[in-house]
Amino acid sequence: MKISFTAPKLPRSGAAAVGVMEGGKLSPTAARLDEATGGAVRRAIKGSRFTGKKGQVLEILAPPGVGLSRILLAGLGKPGEAGDVDLENLGGSLVASLLTSGERDLAIMVDPVKGFAQTPPARAARYALGALLRSYRFDKYRTKEKPENKPSLSKVTVMVETPGAARRAFAGLERVAEGVFFTRDLVSEPANILYPKSLAREARKLSELGVKVQVLGEKQMRRLGMGALLGVGQGSANEPQLVVMRWDGAPKARTKAPVAFVGKGVTFDTGGISIKPAADMEDMKWDMGGAGVVIGLMRALAGRKAKVNAVGVCGLVENMPSDKAQRPGDIVTSMSGQTVEVINTDAEGRLVLADALWYAQEKFKPRAIVDLATLTGAIIIALGHEHAGLFSNDDKLAERLIEAGKAVGELLWRLPLGEAYDKAVDSDAADMKNVGDRAAGSITAAQFLQRFIKKGTPWAHLDIAGVTWSNKDKPTVPKGGTGFGVRLLDRLVAEHYEG
Ligand code: BES
Ligand code: MN
Ligand code: ZN
Repeated sequence: MKISFTAPKLPRSGAAAVGVMEGGKLSPTAARLDEATGGAVRRAIKGSRFTGKKGQVLEILAPPGVGLSRILLAGLGKPGEAGDVDLENLGGSLVASLLTSGERDLAIMVDPVKGFAQTPPARAARYALGALLRSYRFDKYRTKEKPENKPSLSKVTVMVETPGAARRAFAGLERVAEGVFFTRDLVSEPANILYPKSLAREARKLSELGVKVQVLGEKQMRRLGMGALLGVGQGSANEPQLVVMRWDGAPKARTKAPVAFVGKGVTFDTGGISIKPAADMEDMKWDMGGAGVVIGLMRALAGRKAKVNAVGVCGLVENMPSDKAQRPGDIVTSMSGQTVEVINTDAEGRLVLADALWYAQEKFKPRAIVDLATLTGAIIIALGHEHAGLFSNDDKLAERLIEAGKAVGELLWRLPLGEAYDKAVDSDAADMKNVGDRAAGSITAAQFLQRFIKKGTPWAHLDIAGVTWSNKDKPTVPKGGTGFGVRLLDRLVAEHYEG
């Protein structure tokens, strides 16, 4: 999708979107179009259930008196009601309604109307971001799609009095969207194409943007003592990899300690010897979603040249059953020195993270560490697909994450940690076991992770199992890989770790 900004000039072809406030008050451009079309705009509103409520879209086809093929009425809501996310959603909904309609061009007319917290260029940038995010499509393996089903919309022009200011506001947002798209691409790739080495190869591409990328193979991880991660990977013909990315964007005089992001990168999770049922197992191609977010985030930070030192560490493995595979009851020694009894080989994500988290702390002494993982099915039972689970040993970090999530429309819900839950992963045979009983499965998984966090390090764990993939379209997120987490963590960095 090509997105541009220009000064307002009513187009003579294609589609134009104009705003309508709740209650039906037309924006100046909407009123002009109503006049030029002999009242077609007001007639359409009257004949429909469109009221201008925020997020509503009404399409008027082939209006008389203007060259346009379509007028889209966009509901702006009540004065002051629309937040940034609402504006993005509106931009996304406009694109959604035209994407495969046969329409090629859309002009979004941003009038300087009263009743917005945002300035017109800021609004323009948000519409553009929403439009861009919704235009994403993963279609590289569709070789026989009928032309009439392919996307037609290829150009969105946002028209606003101060296009330069809008362009500047959009520049950083566009870099973040590129990070989101990178994550969505990675999450969408099937596991025969995306396995630890090929995923590491994708991460290496970030070096073009100035990210320092280092990849450790099995031998190096063996030397570091990463028995927990390696145990998960040992059943697969695909060698595990540890991807370590550094973006050093902080001004030289500033504090050097980086903020660290750690991702679970299970490129396919069969469950291993504790094998999963066949139904829906194909979903486990996106069990590398945490790593996908960390890689997309590094791309976003480097792309917009964020003034932060950030590191990304991704543990990449494939969890397969085979004659080499880890067995239930095996005891592995993690890099931290702690031993783990592997009761269930399907609780593999925490084993991967145990070593990736320890490595990140040992190597970088981060000022804060956030991990992301499609860790438990239980988090989907608890929160569905509306919130990701948040666990933290630090109230301030938790609060900041929740706020960042609200600001970008990626919602988090905090769940508790505590000693009683921690006990659930005590083992008679080793320092701990990798599962509790059935109770509070997402929490005991988080407790397991916390055993690999050093005292005094602010840490948060995001269980993104319910939000990494979407089976339905949302205004700025087409169904499929969502990229949930990239915008959230970019925002966290921008608000609290930059400058
Ligand atoms: N990758 C899964 C969790 C998952 C399930 C993610 C569904 C996305 C959708 C994870 O490795 C797993 O298998 N967890 C087990 C843990 C159990 C064995 C304690 C689970 O949730 O059932
Ligand atoms: Mn599993
Ligand atoms: Zn898994």
